[in-house]
Amino acid sequence: MRKHVILITGASGEVGHALIRRLAEDGNNRLLTMDLHALPEDIRPLTTHVQGDVLDSGLFGRLVSEYEIDTIFHLAALLSTRSEFTPEMAHQVNVEGTLSLLKLAAEQSQWRSRPIQFLFPSSIAIYGMPDLESKNLYNRVREWEWNQPRTMYGCNKVYGEMLGTYFSKHYRQLATEQPVNIDFRCVRFPGLISAYTLPSGGTSDFGPEMIHAAAQGQPYACFVREDARIPFMTMPDAVDALLALSAAPREKLTRLIYNVTSFSLSAGEIRNRVLTDFPNAHVTFEPDLKRQAIIDSWPADLDDSVARRDWGWHPRYGVDAAFDDYLIPNIRERYRKT
Ligand code: SER
Repeated sequence: MRKHVILITGASGEVGHALIRRLAEDGNNRLLTMDLHALPEDIRPLTTHVQGDVLDSGLFGRLVSEYEIDTIFHLAALLSTRSEFTPEMAHQVNVEGTLSLLKLAAEQSQWRSRPIQFLFPSSIAIYGMPDLESKNLYNRVREWEWNQPRTMYGCNKVYGEMLGTYFSKHYRQLATEQPVNIDFRCVRFPGLISAYTLPSGGTSDFGPEMIHAAAQGQPYACFVREDARIPFMTMPDAVDALLALSAAPREKLTRLIYNVTSFSLSAGEIRNRVLTDFPNAHVTFEPDLKRQAIIDSWPADLDDSVARRDWGWHPRYGVDAAFDDYLIPNIRERYRKT
């Protein structure tokens, strides 16, 4: 008898780390995780981990012979800054990897005549504001507005959303065999900030980097202007969003793709909050014009009212709670230990 599992790709990344911890709290969940890298030690006992590549179809063949995959959280991706250095590789991982996982989900659904849930984290990077004037004027963008990304990562994510939508609604629409039932659900995240991990290769990284540097007593040269503004949310809220969307009754969902967010801050406002808690923090602004241009193309805020209406999305941590209750105490504790 094959074992029923939840499959998580990109498991060693920041979202994977937090999601595995939360899913493992429910003893009924059996987790199968994948990543190019080994898992951080603290989550190793919580899952069966396979070290491998989302582009390795032979590996998927072996997995499906052993497991029945009911739900997929497809988190593996190269983030926005890193993708600009290796755009073809980003396409392979972010697009072809997503296609492989969707095909795997389609096969599982066909063999077992049941829906397979596919959770896909997309990003604020799918938006592209043409200039700062538009960014200031169209402050909180809705899902269908300004879908003109300027990064490879943004292009890859918006196409991943389209692929998921296609697999969910039209895949093999002219074929006569058993229909495929993929229950594709997607959230577009703002910049994410964890108290326990740091991102690598993103462009919203200035937020978490500034806070973690201050807590370690290290100077930080911020790579965007003081007035650069994008929305953020905490990692526990990101995990809540994925789990709440996964748990929502299908008939309540009027869209497949939802914005989710919590608070919008400029880099200068993050610096000010950091100084409240770490008065000796040394933050300077030394914009990297190319990374700055990417942040300028991302909206100042996201309108997540459809998620709030359809599946009751509501972040646990607004800006004050994010800093006072989650980030600052946990980050202090983290660096006290090391
Ligand atoms: N945090 C991501 C990045 O900066 C955006 O989704 O690439």
